[in-house]
Amino acid sequence: MGTIKGKALVTGASSGIGREAARRMAQEGFQVIASARRKDRLDELAKENSNILPRPLDLSDAQELEKFCQELSSLSEPISVLINNAGFSVRGAVEDVSLTSIRNLFEVNLFALIRVTQACLPGMRRLRKGTIVNLSSIVGKFPFPTSGPYSATKHAVESISDALRMEVRPFGIRVVTIRPGVIATEFNDVANRLTSDLLSRTDLDYKPVYQAYGAAMGRLFSNISIPGPDLIANLILEAVLSDSPKAVYSAGPLVDEILGQRARLDDAAFYLFMSEKTGLKDLKI
Ligand SMILES: NC(=O)c1ccc[n+]([C@@H]2O[C@H](COP(=O)([O-])OP(=O)(O)OC[C@H]3O[C@@H](n4cnc5c(N)ncnc54)[C@H](OP(=O)(O)O)[C@@H]3O)[C@@H](O)[C@H]2O)c1
Repeated sequence: MGTIKGKALVTGASSGIGREAARRMAQEGFQVIASARRKDRLDELAKENSNILPRPLDLSDAQELEKFCQELSSLSEPISVLINNAGFSVRGAVEDVSLTSIRNLFEVNLFALIRVTQACLPGMRRLRKGTIVNLSSIVGKFPFPTSGPYSATKHAVESISDALRMEVRPFGIRVVTIRPGVIATEFNDVANRLTSDLLSRTDLDYKPVYQAYGAAMGRLFSNISIPGPDLIANLILEAVLSDSPKAVYSAGPLVDEILGQRARLDDAAFYLFMSEKTGLKDLKI
């Protein structure tokens, strides 16, 4: 066995991008605390590599989260790489999503990310080094219709990451934002499961909005092959292993095209472009 490169924490390691990132980090020689709610999945993952330590945790449970953060603070060898990856989405027009759902979304995607980061920072400052990788999304730069609450959590992740990057740079700590487009993981299934009743409970007014948007997305992605989580895990590894990682890494279908338009167009022109792309520009109800 080679020397251990350091201690890493990957949240959301039971599936998708997080699982792949945890695998890759362990293969690279990091000792990886792999965290998520599904213990059976984490145990399976830990069987693959003795560098992986499973740590079941529900990030939306304030008490569990606090206990975990105390553990992080008292580690003899601090976490030097933190991959804040756990996250999920609910779908729906802003009018249709309950505040309870939105609060839960923010608990996991934003507040837990901040709390875990706060718990890891003292150790990183002691080491005078560290890498924090935060999973945003293409919708962290602009929303799609029916992704308002999820996009809001990712916009907030972008801001927190941008401020933190400047604050901790003097201590040798790097903060990296990862902005994936659509990636084939369980992400879509989870969102569908949480909001499968959307069309049946929405007001009649909104049905054509959801339908036009759904049809436009079907057209947009009909000829595109959706990449797997290894695309993003590779970027995470690239950032962690680089001597001078970029502030932001983006990858996935349509990401360059739409981010390019966002950079080129003013707000009015960009949202006209998006209304067209998402099938809502000429819809009158
Ligand atoms: N896939 C995409 O198209 C896409 C695009 C842009 C950004 N992203 C972002 O990429 C990240 C990873 O997503 P993914 O695509 O890999 O999705 P995924 O396969 O659904 O994985 C999400 C992970 O988050 C964990 N998680 C969810 N709620 C949790 C909670 N309350 N407590 C602890 N862990 C929780 C899940 O584990 P348990 O269910 O076992 O708790 C799972 O391991 C997310 O932040 C997502 O927003 C994904």
